[in-house]
Amino acid sequence: MSVLVLGGAGYIGSHMVKQLLADGQEVVVVDNLVKGHRAAVDSRAKFYEVDLRDKAALSAVFEQEQIEAVVHFAAFSIVPESVAEPLKYFDNNTAGMVTLLEVMNEHDVKQIVFSSTAATYGNPVHIPIKETDPQNPINPYGESKLMMEKMMAWADQAYGIKWVALRYFNVAGAIEDGSIGEDHEPETHLVPIILQAAAGKRPYIEMFGDDYQTPDGFNVRDYVHVMDLTAAHLLALNYLKEGHDSAAFNLGSATGFSVKEMVAAAREATGVDIQAKVGPRRAGDPDILVADSTAAREVLGWQPQFDNVADIIKTAWHWVEMHPNGYED
Ligand SMILES: NC(=O)c1ccc[n+]([C@@H]2O[C@H](COP(=O)([O-])OP(=O)(O)OC[C@H]3O[C@@H](n4cnc5c(N)ncnc54)[C@H](O)[C@@H]3O)[C@@H](O)[C@H]2O)c1
Repeated sequence: MSVLVLGGAGYIGSHMVKQLLADGQEVVVVDNLVKGHRAAVDSRAKFYEVDLRDKAALSAVFEQEQIEAVVHFAAFSIVPESVAEPLKYFDNNTAGMVTLLEVMNEHDVKQIVFSSTAATYGNPVHIPIKETDPQNPINPYGESKLMMEKMMAWADQAYGIKWVALRYFNVAGAIEDGSIGEDHEPETHLVPIILQAAAGKRPYIEMFGDDYQTPDGFNVRDYVHVMDLTAAHLLALNYLKEGHDSAAFNLGSATGFSVKEMVAAAREATGVDIQAKVGPRRAGDPDILVADSTAAREVLGWQPQFDNVADIIKTAWHWVEMHPNGYED
């Protein structure tokens, strides 16, 4: 039996593939490579270049392979793009989930672990954010993911498809051997952008706004290492295998770091005097986004290994040093 990793050629999905292989599992990857990289997929996994909205092609994979569970990373995830092109997000993310759940149901595959996001909460009403807090997304990306969560809940009620939604906050770092890492186009995540400045690919990092309601005025986020994140997915798969009920869990570090602190940690991790400038605030950026991950720790038994952002950044830097042009090398 195999685990199907949808979006397994992407940043987090390719690390999930490594995590599953290290656990001795058989892995099948489906990715249309719209964002991902063929070279990111470990050669021990079976790879299908398929768009998940192509029902016939996706069904053919389920007929060919013995799939026992699905881990679903395949989605678009750039917030400003989702505001400009909302239908692109509802088509790929939300409508993609309809096809996936139909195909799973038709092939009697009843377990799914899903990449959800802090963006489903919108502006937080409490810090740290708990799973039970209101979900009021403020952009189409977050809305598309919230709709996907709700679709799984109804599919559970109707067909008995059990799900775990893992709501990520900020994910960073790379597998420690540096063989795979983060290579998005365009890059919108803070750590790889800081490292572009460290590598001389941009003259400086722009920190958006220094007048937030935080101790140093820069906005605060929490960061989880990508291998800690994928370890939580493995625990979620086991949780479903043991027959537990569907559930949602936050995955965050509980400790927030400001953008300024992240730049300082990156200077420490790389040994490079990274230049930084303060720019204007971006619309819609909350002061602080930090997760309460108590439930993931208590129910799933999740124990993140990386608790220091400089160590997380070191692993991302190792990937950058080994692959200065990302997967183009
Ligand atoms: N990176 C983060 O910090 C973060 C935070 C919160 C949530 N997430 C969620 O985690 C997931 C993975 O994020 P990532 O950073 O690895 O993104 P990514 O873009 O690197 O990976 C997504 C993968 O899905 C594939 N894909 C997209 N649409 C597809 C389709 N229709 N059919 C088949 N394949 C398709 C892409 O080619 C890509 O390989 C996303 O769903 C995202 O919403 C990520």
